[in-house]
Parts: sequence; structure tokens; C-alpha cells
Amino acid sequence: MKKLYELIEFQKLGDEFGELVVAECGKHIPFDVRRIFYIYGTKQGVVRGRHANRKSRFLLINMFGSVKIKIDTGKKKDVIDLNRPNMGVYLDRMVWKDMYDFSEGSCLLVLSDELYDSKEYVRDYQEFLNEINNAKK
Ligand code: TYD
Repeated sequence: MKKLYELIEFQKLGDEFGELVVAECGKHIPFDVRRIFYIYGTKQGVVRGRHANRKSRFLLINMFGSVKIKIDTGKKKDVIDLNRPNMGVYLDRMVWKDMYDFSEGSCLLVLSDELYDSKEYVRDYQEFLNEINNAKK
């Protein structure tokens, strides 16, 4: 079965002078990237996300500091601590996500296969559950 989310460990190609990480579409990123955005300067106690996306898939990489990603597939819940710049979390469509516990200086880079479209967001949790249950029928 196709995974709805997955932790991705990027190889570090650094040397004694410092680190370097590469992510190529089709090789490490499971889609072609059409959009990037990043979240930084997040105040303490803030929870971002709180939605699912009908069309977009994502790869989240926290470039600096740490952030927790709560993932809810409707069947399973998980929390991933993104605390290294060489790790990422892949999120398929229709996965509910919360981002929280942003450390000071955290910079969360998000790659997506879709351009922004506010209509593809599901912001109501019950609606999210209804849509995934209806899709299974
Ligand atoms: P977002 O944090 O997704 O909105 P909200 O806080 O309402 O959940 O996005 C903040 C603003 O940025 C919102 O006005 C929508 C806009 N935005 C874009 O224009 N393009 C994008 O790719 C994203 C993620 C947000």
C-alpha cells in the first residue's frame, strides 16, 4: 500500500569543512516540485497547519532548529520531531497536519507538487474525516 507519510533521511555529503545535503526530484523527493514556501519567525506556542490538502503533496524539511509535525491520516496519528536538516517528512494528499513547538530560529522549508489554491484546503476536521471515509466507499 502507498504510504501516506514517510520520514526521509537525506545523505550528508559533507566533509571536514561542513555539511552538504542534496535532494533530487524522483530520487529523494517523490514528486516534481512546483512550489516552495518556508515558515520562520514563528512565535512560541503557535500551532500552524491544522488542515489537510485535497491536491497537494508536501515534503517538509526543517533547515534550522526543530519543529514537531503531528500527522493524522484519519486512521493513525503520529508525531515526528523534525530536528535535523538532513531529514524530511513526506505527506501525501488528505493527511491532516499540525506544526507546533517551533524552536527559536526554526526555519521550516516546504516543497509541494502543486501551486497554491485555497479551495483545495480542508480546514474542518470533521469534514476531513467525512471526505476520507467517503473516498474509501
Ligand atoms: P497559511 O498559513 O496556509 O494560512 P492560514 O494561516 O490561514 O492557515 O498561509 C498564510 C497566508 O499565505 C494565507 O493568506 C495564504 C497565503 N499562502 C499563499 O499565498 N501561498 C502559499 O503557498 C501558502 C502556503 C500560503
